[in-house]
Amino acid sequence: MSVEPSALDCTPYPRRRAVPAAVPAYLEETYHWAYLSPRNLKLLDRPSIVSAILWGNYRRLLRMALAELRPGQRVLQPACVYGDFSPVLAEFLGPEGCLDVTDVAPLQIENCRRKLRGFRHAKAQVRDAADLGGGGYDAVCCFFLLHELPDGYKRKVVDALLDSVRPGGKVIFVDYHRPHWAHPLKPVMSLVFDRLEPFAKGLWDFEIASYAAQTARFDWSKRTCFAGLYQISVARCCGRAGRRRAWSRPVARAVP
Ligand SMILES: C[S@@+](CC[C@H](N)C(=O)[O-])C[C@H]1O[C@@H](n2cnc3c(N)ncnc32)[C@H](O)[C@@H]1O
Repeated sequence: MSVEPSALDCTPYPRRRAVPAAVPAYLEETYHWAYLSPRNLKLLDRPSIVSAILWGNYRRLLRMALAELRPGQRVLQPACVYGDFSPVLAEFLGPEGCLDVTDVAPLQIENCRRKLRGFRHAKAQVRDAADLGGGGYDAVCCFFLLHELPDGYKRKVVDALLDSVRPGGKVIFVDYHRPHWAHPLKPVMSLVFDRLEPFAKGLWDFEIASYAAQTARFDWSKRTCFAGLYQISVARCCGRAGRRRAWSRPVARAVP
């Protein structure tokens, strides 16, 4: 039996009861300064900072993500993003739509709830993106989360997000990608990743699709921008029947 999205309210229908998520070790060890420190949150939570981190590409990447969505849809954002990402998304979906933001860090959820005040169709709750338990969303919008995850976690999160969309829905991944060999920022980004983001280069070496255990139900496509440094990869759920589709682009290497 198919479920009409319009017949659903904003509450996802998880297969499991929500339990408070524990902060994963990689987040505590590698990203405490960025996401778990209340003092730094005040400094970093500005559109100008997000824009600087993305070399001025924040608005462009946001527009590319929104172009995959439509007002009135039920959308899951599986990790908080600094700046105005969630309010812009909530505004775009409109009161006929619904936005669920989740994040594994209670501090980030508290902060996001503050930014979403005034949007009655948007809510935020603490959940680990690796353990979401379904949801039947029209779309999932995953903005720069994957590169921060160790490979094993990447696999779990990709599968959990694919599991969260209804047949016909899509998962949108906006994240880093291997830049063109002559990209002037390639050596800088390589250094930044080696020093601060130890799991990011996984996305230089592997297609996001190759982290997924289930390939049969999904039709993948990928675009890159800024000379390859960023990608928007979209997995469309082509139904429950499990019909195997051709890859939009070949996956060059399998994840080890
Ligand atoms: C989306 S990513 C990076 C986004 C971008 N760098 C920015 O401007 O914020 C940052 C968020 O991911 C969250 N996060 C990390 N691992 C997670 C997980 N397993 N489940 C849910 N959220 C997670 C962090 O707590 C943080 O709030």
